[in-house]
Amino acid sequence: MNLDGMKKVDKILNNKKYQKSLDKIKKCEKNRKYCRHDMEHFLSVARICYVLNLEMGLGISKEIIYVASLLHDIGRHKQYEDKIPHEIASSQIARKILIDCGFEFEEIEIIVEAISKHRDKNNSINDLNGILYRADKLSRNCFSCKMSEKCNWSYDKKNSTVKY
Ligand SMILES: [Fe+2]
Repeated sequence: MNLDGMKKVDKILNNKKYQKSLDKIKKCEKNRKYCRHDMEHFLSVARICYVLNLEMGLGISKEIIYVASLLHDIGRHKQYEDKIPHEIASSQIARKILIDCGFEFEEIEIIVEAISKHRDKNNSINDLNGILYRADKLSRNCFSCKMSEKCNWSYDKKNSTVKY
């Protein structure tokens, strides 16, 4: 494992902008009955994304996968506050955080693109964009969710069983 890489994950977790946005999301979702966008979700996405990466033999770095997953919904509060689609808000906030944390230009571009496309069903399958999109959906436990019937996810999007 690349320990140096996971140090960059710690940088994200310790970043003030990151913590501030997480806090805002938590406040906005205090009474939310549907899926939340919290650390548990971010890490589920990261782990599923990493499993998909291994299964498909894509060879994407663990660091990039975890960082993209930790950041992919970070602008969610903007959707509640200002009706800005959260993939747009998240990619804007993520870019600032990644610059703060000293990521390389190429890394920033790859991560920000995956975040901005994480709700795009037309993603290709074999890259970070595709596995982030799929892991995001797969992370939700629809099969044991009380709100599943009222949820606006289409039938084929809902996870009727455990896959990952
Ligand atoms: Fe998500």
